[in-house]
Amino acid sequence: MLKIYVFSTLFAAYSFYTVLIYLTGTKETAPTNISFDSKAQEGKKIYQQYNCASCHQLYGLGGYLGPELTTDYSNPERGPLLMRAFLENGGQRMPNFHFSKEQIDCIMSYLRYVDATAVSYKNPYRNGY
Ligand code: HEC
Repeated sequence: MLKIYVFSTLFAAYSFYTVLIYLTGTKETAPTNISFDSKAQEGKKIYQQYNCASCHQLYGLGGYLGPELTTDYSNPERGPLLMRAFLENGGQRMPNFHFSKEQIDCIMSYLRYVDATAVSYKNPYRNGY
């Protein structure tokens, strides 16, 4: 009897949670005022070509030497100026790729796009940025 009770309680709880996640998940829509334009597309290519993901994560995927970049753009403690500085000069461990200004603009467009569409990363159920 106890087993049935435990099973039913867990089943009800998981079902409730599934519905909750499903409903709150579908409420979050990506903003439409920012598009994946040609600059952002070029930025994504550069991101892949230079294998930024070997050190950085987007949406939690990638290497762990460098910081997660998904919400760097809107993070009040990081932001576009700091990001640009690293792309222009490299850092202590971040290589200097000697990008042109145009290439950096493209990377920034891409990371801005990623940030703007990372709605669930910024939702109040998750911690901070
Ligand atoms: C060899 C590993 C490595 C690679 C490859 C790399 N980075 Fe980094 N990056 C880092 C590290 C580590 C930092 C933190 C600063 C430091 O210690 O130099 C950083 C910092 C940054 C920052 C500043 C973020 C912040 O909040 O401090 C940005 C933006 C960035 N990298 C973008 C890129 C992009 C775009 C690429 C690909 C073109 C790239 N990185 C490739 C290691 C790397």
